[in-house]
Amino acid sequence: MAGQAIAAVLGILLALALLEPVAADGLKFTTHDLRSEKAVRQLYERWCNHFKVARKQEEKVHRFTYFNQTVHRVASRTVRVADEPLRLNGFADATWAEREAMRCCMTPEGRRNSALVPVKRHTRTYQDMPGHTRTYRNSALLTLPVRVEWHTRTCQGQPCVGPVRNQWSCGSSWAFAATAAIESHLAIRPGASMIVQLSQQELVDCDHTSHGCKGGLAINAFNYVRQNGIASWQNYPYYRFQQENGTCLARTTPRVTMTMIGWSQLEPHNEYELLAQVTYAPVVVAISIGANNTDFRGYAGGMYWGKCGTKNDHELLLVGYDPDSYILKNSWGQSWGDFGYLFLPRTRNCGILERGGSYPVMGWD
Ligand SMILES: *[C@@H]1O[C@H](CO)[C@@H](O)[C@H](O)[C@H]1NC(C)=O
Ligand SMILES: *[C@@H]1O[C@H](CO)[C@@H](O)[C@H](O)[C@H]1NC(C)=O
Ligand SMILES: *[C@@H]1O[C@H](CO)[C@@H](O)[C@H](O)[C@H]1NC(C)=O
Repeated sequence: MAGQAIAAVLGILLALALLEPVAADGLKFTTHDLRSEKAVRQLYERWCNHFKVARKQEEKVHRFTYFNQTVHRVASRTVRVADEPLRLNGFADATWAEREAMRCCMTPEGRRNSALVPVKRHTRTYQDMPGHTRTYRNSALLTLPVRVEWHTRTCQGQPCVGPVRNQWSCGSSWAFAATAAIESHLAIRPGASMIVQLSQQELVDCDHTSHGCKGGLAINAFNYVRQNGIASWQNYPYYRFQQENGTCLARTTPRVTMTMIGWSQLEPHNEYELLAQVTYAPVVVAISIGANNTDFRGYAGGMYWGKCGTKNDHELLLVGYDPDSYILKNSWGQSWGDFGYLFLPRTRNCGILERGGSYPVMGWD
């Protein structure tokens, strides 16, 4: 009975999840849209249409205050970076509570599950071109490519990086970063046939070494997956909050076929190690956003020159770099940033090197 009820709810939630807004670039506007309150209200209507946001009339009245603030802030900030067009992302009318819930929280370092032991590896093998495999010893310095861009590459004819997802107002960046990293490792392996999408909700519900929507750590999630496997996103869909009463559907949901030996952590403040690892596959990193960071929330593409926080509070996936920037896949949907991606200057990087990064170690490498 309970099982049926849950299955029914999951069915509805799956249907809702599939209705998530699809790719939407930022909405461009000009200072002319700020000439009067009426013009800003018209811009708000355009924004609602652009991002296909349905708002009731009274909700619009309430949210217009936030929208108005966002628009003026973006306009005044962008003036300083003259060649950037004015753009709004899909969060322009979000309330403060909605904004803060997404950043919150990584488990503080001290709460890391002490039972976790990283896997030590002395050699790594990877394929940099079809049929061409190289083995690299950790001690040997590798000349790094000028740029690495896993997000635009294909692996066996499929994307090497899964689609950008949205964690909504749940502090589950750790679960999205961990699954994104495993998904990419699965896609990059020789002989992979398609990109598998893994269940963040299973980690939110079942990984008790983290705290569901109240925060967690990707390495704890790696450890959970090593021990318990993980369901696909299709079989255990995401519904934006932690289920009541400790409900965890892992036992009754099929596991994705894979072998994960463990995970590995890179040393902090070693950019070379981090970039070298990204040449093999994407890596989970942490950055510092900080409370009430309207620059970060409002980021709609281009290089991010906004504010940073002082303490790592958000995990995401490093998918590459170029001479100027780190390229990161975030989990705030495709209407945030550059189709969901962040270009973070290497010279002003919001603490990306503080933890060093971590990645899953799969059975075949
Ligand atoms: C919109 O923001 C501007 C600039 O901060 C302010 O002067 C104006 O009063 C705001 N309007 C509303 C309706 O909130
Ligand atoms: C959770 O537990 C409470 C109190 O026992 C109960 O009323 C509620 O229906 C339960 N919720 C679910 C989803 O099982
Ligand atoms: C964030 O902004 C809100 C609204 O202005 C304010 O109530 C809150 O105290 C701020 N939090 C921090 C940590 O600055």
